[in-house]
Amino acid sequence: MEGLIFSKPPRVEISSGDPLEARVNSIIVPVRKSGEKPLLEGVAARADKLAGGVLSGAIESGDFKADVGEIVKGYHDGRIILFVGLGGDAGKPRLLENLRAAYARAVSFLLDKAESAVVIVEPTEGVEAREAVVGALLGAYKFDYFKTDKSKKRRLSLIYFTVAESVLREALALAEGVYLARDLANAPPHEVAPSKLARLVRDLFSSLENVEVEVLDYERLVEEGFGGIVAVGKGSKEKPVLIIVRYKGSGGEPVALVGKTMVFDSGGINLKPSQSMFDMRADKAGGAAVLGVTWAAARAGLKVNIVALLPAAINVPSGESYLPSDVIRMKDGTTVEVTNTDAEGRLTLADAIAYAAKDLNAREVIDVATLTGAAAVALGPFIAAVFTRSQDLLEEVKKASEVTGEKVWQLPLEDDYKPALEKKAPLADLANAAMRYGGAICAALFLEHFNHGKPHIHLDIAGPGIGLGGEAVKPPAYWPQGLAPGWGARLLYEYLKGKAGE
Ligand code: BES
Ligand code: MN
Ligand code: ZN
Repeated sequence: MEGLIFSKPPRVEISSGDPLEARVNSIIVPVRKSGEKPLLEGVAARADKLAGGVLSGAIESGDFKADVGEIVKGYHDGRIILFVGLGGDAGKPRLLENLRAAYARAVSFLLDKAESAVVIVEPTEGVEAREAVVGALLGAYKFDYFKTDKSKKRRLSLIYFTVAESVLREALALAEGVYLARDLANAPPHEVAPSKLARLVRDLFSSLENVEVEVLDYERLVEEGFGGIVAVGKGSKEKPVLIIVRYKGSGGEPVALVGKTMVFDSGGINLKPSQSMFDMRADKAGGAAVLGVTWAAARAGLKVNIVALLPAAINVPSGESYLPSDVIRMKDGTTVEVTNTDAEGRLTLADAIAYAAKDLNAREVIDVATLTGAAAVALGPFIAAVFTRSQDLLEEVKKASEVTGEKVWQLPLEDDYKPALEKKAPLADLANAAMRYGGAICAALFLEHFNHGKPHIHLDIAGPGIGLGGEAVKPPAYWPQGLAPGWGARLLYEYLKGKAGE
């Protein structure tokens, strides 16, 4: 089989001239409501006339209320005219979420029906316009690389938007970043085995300016004392690597973004039960998000200095695997007693965090990881746990979160739980897993040990990173059904954009 190629959103162009006259297969026309009443005015009213009054008919009959994502379909001149409800007035976070959802719903409806579309967006500038375009492009995402049946592949390949050039450029950068994050998170493990992933990342980023990719291979990791990454990854024939992507959009010390990139997590010698193993192909969702935001920042030319670190490994049992009760010497010299080989993510992350903080002189460290089942149990499929000692940084994360709709909730770094990490390690400095309860907090405390005093944000994305739980509650329309949504790439972009003062 050929190797995986990361996918891109449909081609985008600016729609100039009358969008209702464009030579395309389909047109998406938004319809707002005021109070309980759909607003039949402006371009919607004109489009309704062209489509023979389907919209006014649907409104009169009470069939269409312009609720978010509600759809009425008409035709004109061999084209589909798709009216989509945007809902009514709402506060900013809700409004942006409604826009993403409505446009995603409309575009995903057209995916296999039309080759080209005009998407009408009003207003044409500002964050509302950007999020409408982002929603539309994310709604066009399909992970169809391995489908050989052409009819199951996306047909929609060209979309015109009625927005300003700068809005379109930023939205496209974001969508590309999320596509990359989704593809990597959802990729079958052996398609992105560590060295292979390193090659893919090198190839992919070589097209961008101001970006450099460095790969520390297995031998280097052994030589330079990355004991955590080496221990976790050595059980597989596909040995671990540390992928480092640098984007220099400004001077100064870099912000380090560290992403858990467990290409597969079987649990290792402490093997997981099979029901909970399948999802672990998305145990690289943290690294995927980090790669996605780095791509988006570079494509958008954000004025930030990023060093992204992806410790990539496969955690499997074999005659060469690390063992429960092994003692590991980590990159910064800390010794760790392995109490559970399934608590592997914190070992790979700790090496990368210490390396970023001490050797790369990062000014701040943000790590993103599908780290603990406990975080997913606590907050469910749509909310990530955030840990930090800096309430200032927390506020910045929350501000970004309100814009992007990626929800976070702070959990405490409880000092009283810290002694457990030492108590469970009679031979070494720390145990990698210590308490049955408070699992997400213990993992966060473990990571904190390795930040060497640098400002640090830890995002445990075990729930939303993997895309769990869609069977019980419905994820947003711009998430791919049953797959990892690329969670965190947009959030971190918005966070970094705030830093850059743009
Ligand atoms: N990758 C898992 C965490 C996970 C589980 C994420 C389910 C998403 C859904 C992690 O490596 C893990 O196995 N954590 C263990 C830690 C325990 C052994 C201390 C867990 O949470 O059970
Ligand atoms: Mn694990
Ligand atoms: Zn894991």
